[in-house]
Amino acid sequence: MQIARTVSDIRSEVAHYRAAGESVGLVTTMGALHEGHMALIAAARAAHDRVVATIFVNPTQFGEAADLEAYPRTEARDIAMLEEAGADAVLIPEASEIYPEGDETIVETTRLADMHHGRTRPGHFRGVTTVVARLFNIVGPDAAYFGEKDYQQIAVIRRMARDLHFPLEVRGVPTVRAEDGLALSSRNARLSPEDRAAAPVLKRALDAGRAVALPGTRIEDIAQTIRETVAEEPRARLEGLDLVDPMTFLPATGPFETPVGIMISARFGRGDDAVLLIDQMEIAP
Ligand code: PAJ
Repeated sequence: MQIARTVSDIRSEVAHYRAAGESVGLVTTMGALHEGHMALIAAARAAHDRVVATIFVNPTQFGEAADLEAYPRTEARDIAMLEEAGADAVLIPEASEIYPEGDETIVETTRLADMHHGRTRPGHFRGVTTVVARLFNIVGPDAAYFGEKDYQQIAVIRRMARDLHFPLEVRGVPTVRAEDGLALSSRNARLSPEDRAAAPVLKRALDAGRAVALPGTRIEDIAQTIRETVAEEPRARLEGLDLVDPMTFLPATGPFETPVGIMISARFGRGDDAVLLIDQMEIAP
């Protein structure tokens, strides 16, 4: 596996693939890799001649410097996992490589970025679209793979790629979960054993919502079932619950007649150490 640290190195690597007429799939990550990331690599592996990954802890999508500092960095292990999974190349750049001196250009989905998770994390999705647009331009893949777990993120990236006419496909990969249902996340490692045991409540709550959602059920009743299920777990503090139209991300209302995206987030633990976990499910009548 080729390890590139600069834009020019990864570009010349991809140029070799292109010269041989090979297709390229891209998987962007912030490292601290787990089986969720590996599912994206496997999806790309199955569809393309070459798979390029990126590992970049993107400073512009973090609200607080402390959060950015605390983000786990496990480069040697990440490289070994990518190699094992059959990636052909990985770009691991310094921030100055992606954001050159005097940098001032941003990419923003003006409406989608400010809703839901974006409301509590101002600037977060702007950071995501700004870095992903750059990575798309640097690598120039045929398709890029993103996890459905980050439901609003993939919607934001799809909208950006469509609006800016990026010549590539954005493909979603289903959420990889632990046996007890908890969505895999690099944040899970920060949970205390008690909170780790409590965390599957998010998936249980989504399942409970799906179970009561018959055609015509009031959306508010689905939401209420989800809230009640989370409330049964004293260690979980519900932070956000949004039931949305998957296309527009506007709140779903009235009776359940068309597909609904459910986004849930909750905190586990106390004070500064509290860990925010998110999960999602799409339901259709
Ligand atoms: P990161 O959190 O490292 O996630 C990288 C990719 O892995 C994202 O597309 C995410 O949705 C996917 N992923 C994470 N956990 C998953 C799981 N349990 N199942 C399936 N896919 C999962 O998301 C980011 O990084 C960044 O915002 C990034 C897109 C790289 C831009 O900086």
